[in-house]
Amino acid sequence: MARGGQGTQAGEGAAAGSLRHLLSVADLGADGIAEMLRVTDSFVEVSERAIPRVPALRGKTVVSLFFEDSTRTRLSFETAAKRLSADTMTFSASTSSVKKGESLRDTVETITAMGIDAIVVRHGSAGVPWQVARWTDAAVINAGDGWHEHPTQALLDCYTIGQARAGAASDVEKVFAGLRVAIVGDVAHSRVARSNVLAFAALGAEVTLVAPPTLLPPSLAGWPVTVSHDLDAVLPGAEVVYLLRIQRERASEALLPSLREYTAGYGLTRDRSRLLRPDALVMHPGPMNRGVEIAAEVADLPCSVVTRQVANGVAVRMAVLFLLLSHPAQLEPGVAVDG
Ligand code: NCD
Repeated sequence: MARGGQGTQAGEGAAAGSLRHLLSVADLGADGIAEMLRVTDSFVEVSERAIPRVPALRGKTVVSLFFEDSTRTRLSFETAAKRLSADTMTFSASTSSVKKGESLRDTVETITAMGIDAIVVRHGSAGVPWQVARWTDAAVINAGDGWHEHPTQALLDCYTIGQARAGAASDVEKVFAGLRVAIVGDVAHSRVARSNVLAFAALGAEVTLVAPPTLLPPSLAGWPVTVSHDLDAVLPGAEVVYLLRIQRERASEALLPSLREYTAGYGLTRDRSRLLRPDALVMHPGPMNRGVEIAAEVADLPCSVVTRQVANGVAVRMAVLFLLLSHPAQLEPGVAVDG
């Protein structure tokens, strides 16, 4: 696909304030990610207020265009838009004219004709957000395209790591320099893994993928990672352990002898959690399959930041919508946020 494409190197990126769309982590680069996380700090503060709402995007309309199942990502974007006082519209493929045979292009052009400002798109096919961006004047945000990318998940994960290890996004580059991150599980089918590898590596982390050979992509050429098939060997050195769901809807189960064997080799079981460093963070994008990639009691340990990831997701998406939809001159901290 075009811009950002299927590549795995986070390129130079652009200043987050001058972006038109957010399609790939590669659109941002290290500086763009850091800027996005700094703006997120303001919105975390807004989210903690008794009335977590600011007028920053009053009069703007944000549409969520979801062709795949989603709970947290769709609700997170819609909550973010509402907290910025934008109007929201929800499109869900199962109850739309797509059922009557309408093409993706006609759907996008119809929605655009209503006068909207942003489209948040999730689709089962890689590259769809790039196509949508060619058919609309609105800002397009990739909320997950097939196995390819999920840039706002990567941003919220970077923010959560920065927050847990330094307390503030301003220290993010220091936090990530040389940080040892293990991404464990179904990397082959994971858009989260692709976006997170780009983002973590761009910020200076050392990323190790831990998975059985059948759940790794056929080629890792150009991926800035090392690979291991031995979770027990990797855990004692890992400062962040990022677990991925077995993507059953993408037939990944067929690539394993059994889920029980997968858990025995690659699950973060209670026994295995004793190998974690005392300061390790355990992360998961959700939805979790407790008892498969993570034991129920490990998911609830204090080192697990899964619910913090969800909470930060709203603030990160507020930052993304704000930076894409407001005038760059409004970006001075404390100015536009409060209108
Ligand atoms: C992920 C997704 O849909 O890509 N979930 C999410 O957005 N929070 C990961 C997954 O489904 O396993």
